[in-house]
Amino acid sequence: MNLEQTNHPNSSQQVSHEQPVLMLDQVTKRIGKKTIVDRLSFEVRRGEIVGLLGPNGAGKTTAIRMMTGLFTINEGDIRIAGQSIRKQFKQAIVHVGGIIENPEFYPYMSGFDNLKQAARMTDNVTDARITEVISLLGLQEALHKKVKAYSLGMRQRLGIAQALLDRPKLLILDEPTNGLDPAGIREMRDYLKKIAQSEGIAILVSSHLLSEVEQMCTRVVIIQNGKLVTEHNIGDPKNATLLPELRIRVDRPSAAVQILKKLEPVQMIEVKEDASELVCRVADADMPTLIDALREADVVVYRIAESKKSLEDEFLQWTGGNQIA
Ligand SMILES: Nc1ncnc2c1ncn2[C@@H]1O[C@H](COP(=O)(O)OP(=O)(O)O)[C@@H](O)[C@H]1O
Ligand SMILES: [Mg+2]
Repeated sequence: MNLEQTNHPNSSQQVSHEQPVLMLDQVTKRIGKKTIVDRLSFEVRRGEIVGLLGPNGAGKTTAIRMMTGLFTINEGDIRIAGQSIRKQFKQAIVHVGGIIENPEFYPYMSGFDNLKQAARMTDNVTDARITEVISLLGLQEALHKKVKAYSLGMRQRLGIAQALLDRPKLLILDEPTNGLDPAGIREMRDYLKKIAQSEGIAILVSSHLLSEVEQMCTRVVIIQNGKLVTEHNIGDPKNATLLPELRIRVDRPSAAVQILKKLEPVQMIEVKEDASELVCRVADADMPTLIDALREADVVVYRIAESKKSLEDEFLQWTGGNQIA
């Protein structure tokens, strides 16, 4: 066990003295002359659900294949619970439960028999643990159906249940929501949150869909052309501005802006004359003052909308306008 402690006093991440469960350190993968993953570094800690986000072809699956020992690493290293994938492969890989692309099952066996079969091939999996993962993934009712009759969402859940059998410290899922409908995606999100909390493990989920990662993950690592673009904590108050940004549509924007500039609690951001719109920040408590002031000046308000800068807007900034697939 490596007892080295990592501490990031200046980082916006939660300070944790625990070593990361997954640590990529300048990982590089070349295939032929092409560099597919290029000096990629990031960490995932216990209890976190981290999204590995990038457009198709960004290198997500390649990175995950290296984490699960399916691809060799050309440069750098990956540590799992402190153990090097390159130097202590067996000690490192025991901590990983993963599904790359699609989980494989015996289609003519029930979900339960598939789990029993997987448990037989793994050390120290008790019947109680099988029951536990079944209930964790909400598979009780599907349990005695043949897997060939499972929906895609049920197959994914059975795959995750199977990956969790021997209590891995790290669960890695490559695009687990591909092909799921919105209800299936929501369900997957809820299950992953439940797993991260109740099992206290680290989860890495890859995706090419920003909206999905935004809702599912506590942190997102964005890659493009095999390189890290940025890391971003989701729902981190440090990333949020305190006052909501509002777009107010009025009949006379230049008159309105003169009024609002005199109101101390209102921070003007911009005036869009052509759209008859003002953009400002104001606390909920000061909204009545703002509305009264406009009404007294006979400015007609047509619409007030909160404009939330989404991860998508930020993503476009970070990547210089490149759309995610
Ligand atoms: N075995 C391989 N041989 C050659 N090129 C590969 C191989 N696997 C992936 N690639 C290339 O590496 C790039 C990244 O692929 P991949 O890791 O699958 O991206 P993602 O999972 O983000 O869509 C792509 O350009 C792909 O064509
Ligand atoms: Mg992929």
